[in-house]
Amino acid sequence: MTSSTPATATVSAAAAASAAASLTADQAAARAAELRDQLHHHAHLYYVLDTPSLPDAAYDQLFQELQAIEAAHPALRTPDSPTQRVGGAVLDVFDPVRHVVPMLSIRTETDTEASGAENFDARVRRELDLGEQAAPVEYAAELKFDGLAINLRYERGVLVQAATRGNGETGEDVTQNVRTISQIPLRLTGDGAKAAVLEVRGEVYMRRDDFEALNERQRAANEKTFVNPRNTAAGAIRQLDPALVRQRPLSFFAYGIGETQGWDIPATHGAMIDALGSYGLPVNADRAVVRGAAGLVAFHREIGEKRDALPFDIDGVVYKVNSRELQRRLGFVSREPRWAVAHKYPAQEQVTKLDRIDIQVGRTGKLTPVAKLEPVFVGGTTVSNATLHNLFEMRRKGIRVGDQVIIRRAGDVIPEVVGKVDAARAAYVPNFRMPRHCPVCGSDVAREPGNIEFRCTGGIFCPAQRKQALLHFAGRRAMDIEGLGDKLVDQLVDGGIVTSLPGLYKLGVAKLTALERMGDRSALNLIDALEKSKHTTLARFLFALGIRQVGETTAKDLAKHFGRMDALMSATEEQLLAVKDVGPIVARSIAAFFAEAHNREVVEQLIAAGVSFPESDGAAAAPAGPQPLAGKTLVLTGTLPTLSRDEAKELIEAAGGKVSGSVSKKTSYLIAGEEAGSKLDKARELGLTILDEAGLQALLAATE
Ligand code: IVH
Repeated sequence: MTSSTPATATVSAAAAASAAASLTADQAAARAAELRDQLHHHAHLYYVLDTPSLPDAAYDQLFQELQAIEAAHPALRTPDSPTQRVGGAVLDVFDPVRHVVPMLSIRTETDTEASGAENFDARVRRELDLGEQAAPVEYAAELKFDGLAINLRYERGVLVQAATRGNGETGEDVTQNVRTISQIPLRLTGDGAKAAVLEVRGEVYMRRDDFEALNERQRAANEKTFVNPRNTAAGAIRQLDPALVRQRPLSFFAYGIGETQGWDIPATHGAMIDALGSYGLPVNADRAVVRGAAGLVAFHREIGEKRDALPFDIDGVVYKVNSRELQRRLGFVSREPRWAVAHKYPAQEQVTKLDRIDIQVGRTGKLTPVAKLEPVFVGGTTVSNATLHNLFEMRRKGIRVGDQVIIRRAGDVIPEVVGKVDAARAAYVPNFRMPRHCPVCGSDVAREPGNIEFRCTGGIFCPAQRKQALLHFAGRRAMDIEGLGDKLVDQLVDGGIVTSLPGLYKLGVAKLTALERMGDRSALNLIDALEKSKHTTLARFLFALGIRQVGETTAKDLAKHFGRMDALMSATEEQLLAVKDVGPIVARSIAAFFAEAHNREVVEQLIAAGVSFPESDGAAAAPAGPQPLAGKTLVLTGTLPTLSRDEAKELIEAAGGKVSGSVSKKTSYLIAGEEAGSKLDKARELGLTILDEAGLQALLAATE
């Protein structure tokens, strides 16, 4: 794409100028807005997704038309207009930045748990000439973040430059892009503001939830997905257009320093990180000062155990001699400090062979291709199944049976195939096709035009869907039937014992004890759990039915609005649209569900079996208790000290408030706990009121 260079403004520019001059002010404003949208859209496809959607010449034409309109109507020239990047914000190439203090790398120990730490400690003691009797060495132990290294140069507290590591001597100037990362302060506070020069080094990374959400958006748009958070972060930082970097939520942790002038360097690494934190820089809380090899081994083990639960990827831990004086004495060997080492964990990506592709049928009939793999150790466990997400994604990645594929397993996200290793195939392998009939029940498979999802049309008659429907019905947030797990559901459905949701409540001890691995006690417990589950709420019952598009929140909104089951069942699409947050797709899905005689029967039979819930007159009825949060929207982020997410949500809703998943100008309060991430940044950016759990409790206790 060349349009940002004035040289391309050639012949058609004159024509565009005369056309622009003949537009009325209103026409010009409308057309300019349209052009800006189109240009942003195509630039996004081109730069970010590497999928050019328009020939360069066509892009240039739109660009020139916008330039001409803006020239004729200067008031329409908005700061975010693509034309405003000419010669300015669009970075053609990155300027080189010479690092005054080289950015080194660290040696890696991939050894088993103990020896990696012990080897390092032994080497440090030897090089420092410490005898057997000398006290243990003190180390700063921290996480090895999996992103890319960045040098932030602050002068008198102001961020003046950000550079990549490059070859260690010379990096690239990525200041404009780094400025888009809201976690990185543009100005330091406290003593940080006084230092003539303070270069802060750290890692730019992408949180797993931000990465997953980004890929979900890509998938929904049937666009290319990203392989892992590290590559996505590295790619984003080297984007040419800072506006596009902003759409990739990036985060940062400081872990060291470069050049400094007029700053008292703390005597230990630990104190230095504390100081950086006190200046407003993000530093990670999972760090410790430990003694000797034993302390390092314990840290490695502790972090290894919580690795999956961290909100971001790490590929190991880093050990650093804590004392700066000892660091100086140890010095460097061939571009690596003798005072630091990285100790790795099992990789989260591995290559293995794709043996076969199976199709999994979900609760709503959605067909998902699942890779059956030659078992491979990845992210700490052995994986032999991984999702291929959907047919189109697989095709885009060129994956076929027999290929060597790349598996990623990070955190509690299900393992996925993220790509393949390019290699010639030994023989011709046909492209994978989705089956025309459901592999479980044989019903037709259908795909709505324009939709990427293939579905089994068998509905509840399909055993796979029935199993998933039963599991969903029994789920903790639905009817909460303890002890009804997937093994038991398999037995009940495969044995033809339960064929519908109401069938669950007809289970007796005799039928249950006839099952394998089911003793009297377990059977009685299950029957007890089934009995208990009958006393529920309308919202839980609605959610449990598994109506497409009706998640927990919509179920609550529907229950509140209609109050009664019969009112909801007979509601028209139009009446459904009157419910808060219910749009046409959701309304259509609900109406279609209750239009099916079969579904109405299920509801009636469940009620006949004893399922009951309090009913009211709906939204018009007076709310139960005091409603201090009526009309307020709250967002929860991070881990609260005593309340779980669900508990906090229930309390807020009981007080009349609404809980939303994303921060916007409309958010009334952000409730932030430990490890709060991008939502907290966004809330700060928007100047919202941010409270902790105690603050939330105070709101809940307030009476109007
Ligand atoms: S210290 C002189 N600390 O790992 C020591 N590096 O080769 C310089 N990294 O790409 C690095 N987490 O970006 C250090 N807590 C941490 C780190 C860390 C991640 C990265 C760093 C570099 C590589 C080191």
